[in-house]
Formats: sequence, structure tokens, C-alpha cells
Amino acid sequence: MTSTTPTLQLRIAEARDLNPLIRQFRLEPIGGGVLPGFSAGAHVRVQVELADGSKDWRHYSLVNFEVARNATHAPPAYLIAVRKEGEGRGGSRFMHERLAVGDTLAVEPPKNDFPLHTGPGGTVLVAGGIGVTPLASMAARRIAEGLPVRMHYAGRSRELMAFLPELEALLGDSLRVHADDRAAGPLDIDALLDDVPAGDRLYVCGPKVMLDAVLARTQARGWEHDRVHFELFTTPVVEAGDHAFEVELAQSGQRFTVAPDQSILDCLIEHGCDPMFDCKRGECGVCAVPVLEGEIDHRDYVLSTREKAEGNVMQICISRAKGERLVLDL
Ligand code: FES
Repeated sequence: MTSTTPTLQLRIAEARDLNPLIRQFRLEPIGGGVLPGFSAGAHVRVQVELADGSKDWRHYSLVNFEVARNATHAPPAYLIAVRKEGEGRGGSRFMHERLAVGDTLAVEPPKNDFPLHTGPGGTVLVAGGIGVTPLASMAARRIAEGLPVRMHYAGRSRELMAFLPELEALLGDSLRVHADDRAAGPLDIDALLDDVPAGDRLYVCGPKVMLDAVLARTQARGWEHDRVHFELFTTPVVEAGDHAFEVELAQSGQRFTVAPDQSILDCLIEHGCDPMFDCKRGECGVCAVPVLEGEIDHRDYVLSTREKAEGNVMQICISRAKGERLVLDL
């Protein structure tokens, strides 16, 4: 991240396990006062310490259930919830296992890459697992505005789903809960879409498999691109067949090898470059780089189908080379 956003030092006022997988934190300014405001869908970046001792940042959505119109303008605290990822690099384990009430965390002020839109039509929220966090704030916001909102919330079991009591109180009959262990199978995306009135917008947040399914089904139905808004709630994973390749930076002539389990972005940072980035998940668009040569393996959610087919630009945080080499206009 090349931004110079001032970092907040926040005190953990509460750290509580909501279930064996999800831990909730309430973060307050040291010495009291209020925090920078945020809009529904916003996240903060929190500095974590990885298993190898290095520092990194993780995005956590800000959760709000209050329906007063100005509830998030100057809040006294931020509420976040963190899912423990057994396979991760250690960021979520740090949050779960090494933090206690009274500890201090470095936190960047809120940013919103997943905003609610204004205009006509209702709002349908589709949450998968911990992806419920930004959507909970969206539900509260729509209720504060007096606008129609419904939520579909899917998870492995009710016991592992965070914030069910709060959401049931907030949404009443407008909340549909799908627990895989009580249903015959995963959430039926087609049945869900059949029920969405024309003109309503969909906001989806959850694991990649859910996002991909919703995007595929809405595209198959000919939905306009801007009716579906989404945020991915997992870090990108190495896919079978990922291989090393070379990147050449046309402007400087430098050449680097990107390892099979490394992104181009991380490779450039490792070699002292200073590329622009933010989400590192192929969602925000910040890391787009022009490509002069080579075939791109596009894995982002930003570029249009046409842009991907043209092959002149790529998101270097997540997309890779299909072949042995890419030449970037950097
Ligand atoms: S950093 Fe957000 S799309 Fe690459």
C-alpha cells in the first residue's frame, strides 16, 4: 500500500468468541473520544503479526446494528469479527490467539469499496459465513432509511454463524437463514434469484465459491452488471497448476521470477518496487497494470469480459501468466 493514510492506535475494549471460529473485537480510541465515521460496507485495515514474525495488514468489515441515522458518523468504537483460518498465513490466528483486552492495534481509518447505492429498487443481501459483517451494516442502514431490505444468510450450521440473534432482531421476517447441516444441501441460488423483484440490487459477500455461483447465475439470466455488487471474503488461494513465470518491466528492463505461490504484486514488492495496490483480492481495481506481451490468466472481479478478452491490462495482485512470461508497462 503506498497511501500515507494516518494510522489509528486503538485499544481492544472487548474480545469475545462468538463461536469456535469467530471472534468479535470492540476497538476504542486510547483515552476515549470518537472515531472517524464510516458508511455501511466499509472496512478497516488492521496490522497483524504473521507466524514468521513479519507484519502485514488484514481487512475487516465494520459491523453496525444500530438504526439511528447517524449511528456511524462519529462512533465511540469499531466492531469487527474475525474468522479463524486454519490454512492462512497466521493473520487470523494472531487475532484469535495473541490479543487480549487492553492490547493496542494499529488500524487504518475506514474505507468503503463496497458501498450501498442510491436510487430506486430494493436491496437484497446475500451473506456466506463471515461475509455477513458488511451486510449487517447495510441491513441496519437500509432500515434506518426506511427502505426495503432482505437478507439471505448461509453457513455450515447455525452454531457457526455469527450475529444471528442481532440479525433476527433487526430484520425479522426479512431474514432467511440457510444452515447447510439442516437443509438438503447448499443455498439454492436459482431459487433465491427467482424471488428477487426486477429492479432490486443484490449485494453478495462470502467465499469465492458463492460469489462465482451468484455471478454465473445472474449473468446467465442477463442481469445488468451493476445490479450485482460483491465483496470476496477469502484471501486468494494457489490453484492447481499454478507455475512460476517471468515478469519483465518494460520501462526499467528489470526481470523477476514470480514463484508458483506468489503474486506478481508481492514479487515486485519483494524486489523493492512500489506498485499501487489496496485489496490484494482482485476486487478494488487499484493494481491494474498495462500488459505489453504475454497471455494473462485473469482471476479478478474488476475487469469486464471484454477487457479480459482484449488482454491489455491485468490486476497484478491476483492474475497470473498463462505462459512463461509477461511484459508489463511499468
Ligand atoms: S489490489 Fe485490489 S484489485 Fe488488485
